[in-house]
Amino acid sequence: MSRKPIIAGNWKMNLLQSEAKALFEGIKSFTKDFTAQQLPTIVIAPVFTSLSAVSSEGCDCGCGCDKISIAGQNCHWEKSGAYTGEISVEMLADAGCSYVIIGHSERRQYFSETDEMINKKAKAILAGGLIPIICCGETLEQREAGVTDQHIATQIRAALNGLSEEEVAKSVIAYEPIWAIGTGKTCDSQEANRVIAMIRNVVKEVSSASAGDSIRILYGGSVKPSTIEEQMSQSDIDGALVGGASLKAESFNEIIANTMKVSV
Ligand code: PGA
Repeated sequence: MSRKPIIAGNWKMNLLQSEAKALFEGIKSFTKDFTAQQLPTIVIAPVFTSLSAVSSEGCDCGCGCDKISIAGQNCHWEKSGAYTGEISVEMLADAGCSYVIIGHSERRQYFSETDEMINKKAKAILAGGLIPIICCGETLEQREAGVTDQHIATQIRAALNGLSEEEVAKSVIAYEPIWAIGTGKTCDSQEANRVIAMIRNVVKEVSSASAGDSIRILYGGSVKPSTIEEQMSQSDIDGALVGGASLKAESFNEIIANTMKVSV
């Protein structure tokens, strides 16, 4: 089963509009030499205030717009209303997004997001014609207590609850061990692959074998140009969700180039 790899950059709460545009230009200077078929699916997730600036750059340039997709870093499940500080799926689409990251551990940890909220978001994103990138992952305490698989399976079952097979098949999951995020400590590639294969089996069980074969499951947590080749050589790792190394065109482009050496 061949699944097109995804390299997604999560810019988190970084970069002003001018900086976001400059980084976007830096990525386009790499992608312009390739067709969309030669490249992995490239996704970038800027802060909300830079979405329009970046997506309009893409449309104006005539070269990179179909090669770099834009993602929101979060959304609300309601369409509109009295939800101060929130943003809807339709608003993200209007600003040029085709993906939305949901359930990132930083949102679960600092903003008390629950599995139930993440499920509502996934449904709203798919109903709005966008693709959710559903994050999951264990803490160091959970890993040391030997409950990693159980914890992640619970997160995945809850996130996918009530989705059709077709919706599951087009969704994206990112396995991000919390202890590996922003620490410089990547999860061993074989272990990341083992957990991702376990996630794929959970998807097959709650949805269908073909949805499990189609869904793309990424690894995230201190991904760097030097780690990506080994990660992408694993049977079940379909790409990466990159934080720190996505904030510089040089390192993000190198991650894309190294991905192209082993897959695409
Ligand atoms: P990192 O972040 O690459 O800086 O570890 C990954 C993420 O949080 O998505």
